[in-house]
Amino acid sequence: MVRSGSRRSTATIPIKGSRFAADLLEPIKQKHPKITYADLYQLAGVVAVEVTGGPTIDFVPGRRDSSVCPEAGRLPDAKQGASHLRDVFYRMGLSDKDIVALSGGHTLGKARPERSGFDGAWTKDPLKFDNSYFVELLKGDSEGLLKLPTDKALMEDPSFRHYVELYANDEEAFFRDYAESQKLSTSHPRSTSCKSCE
Ligand code: HEM
Repeated sequence: MVRSGSRRSTATIPIKGSRFAADLLEPIKQKHPKITYADLYQLAGVVAVEVTGGPTIDFVPGRRDSSVCPEAGRLPDAKQGASHLRDVFYRMGLSDKDIVALSGGHTLGKARPERSGFDGAWTKDPLKFDNSYFVELLKGDSEGLLKLPTDKALMEDPSFRHYVELYANDEEAFFRDYAESQKLSTSHPRSTSCKSCE
């Protein structure tokens, strides 16, 4: 799980298995100790999206680290549906549009059974940031590609589906909204940052 903070307090980003990413970033922290973990993790996310072909996201530094961990169970549960997604994201001040745009982060990477119990990538090229997550969602089940229950919920809920269709047909709209939503989701005053918790 990657954590980031805002200037006033902190944000928990729902990326499971990201302890591995945090370990990869540790040598950079050792070399540049002035950057907080919260800013470092956010910066890594911004760079990852950009170098894989996605939008440039406005990065605003100034997050503080915290020694207090948020209570467990605040991350989205991939086995649940639309109302659960709204419970988790609305409490961070995010909207249906943000939920769908941010779910497009699954254009990158893959799930591993030993981490989450799920297996596989969402798209054919999981190292490329594009709108193919939404294109694949609209196609329905395809062999070898993953769809979590929460991904499927985006197709079933009419408000979410509106954005799925928009982003599948208009990559520019996806990039624009994704950049806005990522910035918003990582600078909310009630978000949480803690290096030591898993
Ligand atoms: C909507 C609620 C979300 C749920 C339920 C969810 C769930 C998951 C799960 C189960 C995995 C697989 C973890 C593993 O097996 O290692 C995963 C991976 C991933 N998630 Fe999400 N996620 C959500 C939102 C997000 C958001 C908002 C982003 C970024 C904007 C994101 C980015 C990723 C990425 C990049 C991976 C792949 C990691 C890797 O390759 O190691 N997810 N997510």
